[in-house]
Amino acid sequence: MNDNTVIIDEIKRLLGDKTPLAYVRSFGCQLNVSDGEKLKGQLKKMGYGFTEDESTADLIILNTCAVRENAEDRVFGIVGSMKKLKEQKPSLIIGIAGCMTAQSHIAEKIKKSYPQVDFVLGTSAINGLPKLLLDSLRGVKFSADIAEYDDFSAEAEQVRESSFKASVPIMFGCNNFCTYCIVPYVRGRERSRRPEDIISEVEGLVRDGYKEIMLLGQNVNSYGNDLGGEMSFPQLLRRLNAIEGDFRIRFMSSHPKDASNELIDAIFECDKVAKHLHLPVQSGSDDVLRRMNRRYTAESYLAIVDEIRRRDPDFSLTTDIIVGFPDETNEDFEATLAIMERVRYDNIYSFIYSKRTGTKAAEMPDSITDEEKGKRMRRLLEVQRGISTEHYKRFIGRRMRVLADDISKKHDGYVTGKSDEFIIVEFEGDSTLIGQFVDVEITAAMNWAVIGRRIQK
Ligand code: 5AD
Ligand code: SF4
Repeated sequence: MNDNTVIIDEIKRLLGDKTPLAYVRSFGCQLNVSDGEKLKGQLKKMGYGFTEDESTADLIILNTCAVRENAEDRVFGIVGSMKKLKEQKPSLIIGIAGCMTAQSHIAEKIKKSYPQVDFVLGTSAINGLPKLLLDSLRGVKFSADIAEYDDFSAEAEQVRESSFKASVPIMFGCNNFCTYCIVPYVRGRERSRRPEDIISEVEGLVRDGYKEIMLLGQNVNSYGNDLGGEMSFPQLLRRLNAIEGDFRIRFMSSHPKDASNELIDAIFECDKVAKHLHLPVQSGSDDVLRRMNRRYTAESYLAIVDEIRRRDPDFSLTTDIIVGFPDETNEDFEATLAIMERVRYDNIYSFIYSKRTGTKAAEMPDSITDEEKGKRMRRLLEVQRGISTEHYKRFIGRRMRVLADDISKKHDGYVTGKSDEFIIVEFEGDSTLIGQFVDVEITAAMNWAVIGRRIQK
């Protein structure tokens, strides 16, 4: 780990008595949001305060996502519009962090075409922020080579977005090289955090009153593969489950090729582990799965689902699906709809395939028009709406434990939250309930949520 004390002291000296304001915006997945919380932790150490309004900021950091092209386009749009802010306030410093900058062609494009930007910071380089910031304050742009840093194991301070839900990355990077995916290129190979670091972080969070711990990794099931057999993911779940306190544990994501019976045992046997599994299927067609390099078939995927449903027929499953992978045929797409009907997911996260430069799939011929992809996407969403509406009915009359997280935007006088099953639940209540577990009896099912009545203890 780099020792940044001297640099941080120098920044504090340069900033003087002022408390400059930083605007940090994270895009994309929860791992990126977690990185954003660590960037904020670094900034806090340097004396920065935070603002949600970029026009009042002295420092803007966009923590970017590279998984799909539209996310990148959005960031370029925002960076473009920041030119004006910089003209109005020349002392404003703008930095671009995250997965976009880890692609050399993108980093070059930013340096060449966006003179309003002062620095780029790659993933795993959070520790490099003080040096880049100091150089920017001194007027030196793009000073550091982002590849100098790799502080994945750094137990960095964080400024967390929520006071009751916390993300805890347990590993970084990915070894799977699904052919459509940029992640292994921008986040590197899998590195597991030390079990004792994870355990003490979770213990600290529980002590601070956090109610939900979300363990994060691109494929949590391969946690520990690089730790010489010291601890596997199911073992980690059991260890965290033994921590005393009133909290629940979630995790994301699980690659189906590595979802073992040990994992299923741990989910069912650990009372604090939420009864929900996010198991990205991506496609129901064996041919597409093979070309995606997913290393499972529809049949082997369904064997996992069947094993879970054998133990609990109502167990909640969610998934990711890609529509319009290169040369996806109508039959391939129908196979995806068929697996959705067979599994009955409570929710799906579906994406139109986005070509990512540098990946294998980017080289594959693709004869499907955008119009056809859009049509398939609409159909898929319609099918899922039908499944959710029907499937959510199983909860009517049941009691759910809900972590209330906000005031409902749809129903006046209602609060919204998520159940252990990862279902959105709305019920009558007020803001005093936010951040607490509430027992709710379900009275109605919609296609996006269930509605219930609070059970007074
Ligand atoms: N195009 C569309 N969706 C993608 N995903 C990953 N890469 C791409 C891409 N190139 C989706 C996958 C993954 C989720 C996080 O994002 O479904 O599970
Ligand atoms: Fe991407 Fe596949 Fe790794 Fe997930 S498992 S991050 S989809 S390469």
